[in-house]
Amino acid sequence: MSETPTRVWDGPTRLFHWALVILIVVAWLTAEEQMTVHRGAGYAILGLLAFRVWWGLAGGSTARFSNFVRGPAAIRRYLSESREGTAGEHAGHNPLGALSVLALLGLVALQVILGLFAIDEDGFEGGPLSDGIDFDLARQIAEWHELSFRLLQGLVVLHLGAIVFYAVRRREDLVRPMITGVRRFRGQVGGLVPAPLWRLVVGVAIGLAVGFAASRGFRLG
Ligand code: HEM
Ligand code: HEM
Repeated sequence: MSETPTRVWDGPTRLFHWALVILIVVAWLTAEEQMTVHRGAGYAILGLLAFRVWWGLAGGSTARFSNFVRGPAAIRRYLSESREGTAGEHAGHNPLGALSVLALLGLVALQVILGLFAIDEDGFEGGPLSDGIDFDLARQIAEWHELSFRLLQGLVVLHLGAIVFYAVRRREDLVRPMITGVRRFRGQVGGLVPAPLWRLVVGVAIGLAVGFAASRGFRLG
């Protein structure tokens, strides 16, 4: 059967994804001993998230929230069509995958925000906003920061599980498109509508500004 190569992910979305993966691993590996690197990775992640929100509003079509966030009815329909094998192919996240995308983005955001207020046991190392709050509260937040990381780990395992499921049961490789941007469909599928370059420039500026501001504890001067 002939397959049509179709562009599904734009460069910025792919770069966002792999940079996020690398930075989360860096934050994880440096959480105990190398707080400066740990915080730096966190600021960069916050910048990436700010970029992704912008890109979800103004980026390429498959990255847009309005194109993949769907209500419960659409998810139910997708599930029953998948079971019957009648779900159509489409570029971008499917209605169910969209839920995990939102959960992953939301939990990473929570992780970073809690980190900004967290402090270690001795009060030596903390996030840039930890000095503005009570020590006990900052310690409590540090506990939540650890807890939310356990949740994030669980969600990433599910994320990888879903990808393995698609590879094994559906014989669909989702990873290669996240690297090359191109996916092969059996039929004709409307592909990515890219965003103009100026939107990328604005998004990068927003990401850099947010990451930098966070590193200064959102203080002027
Ligand atoms: C996605 C990004 C992040 C991840 C995955 C992450 C992960 C973690 C983990 C797993 C710990 C617990 C280490 C332990 O076992 O004691 C930790 C501690 C900590 N993190 Fe993060 N973190 C992130 C972002 C941040 C940010 C942005 C900040 C602040 C700018 C921050 C500040 C801290 C502090 C101060 C601690 C020490 C808390 C303590 O000793 O109890 N983290 N982080
Ligand atoms: C820290 C670990 C990870 C996090 C937080 C994460 C997060 C995400 C997010 C937020 C998206 C949505 C992309 C977007 O629209 O912006 C996504 C998609 C995706 N991720 Fe990950 N990811 C992680 C690890 C991985 C790894 C290790 C792989 C590959 C082995 C992977 C493969 C994919 C693929 C293939 C998609 C596209 C799924 C689709 O076709 O709908 N991810 N990931």
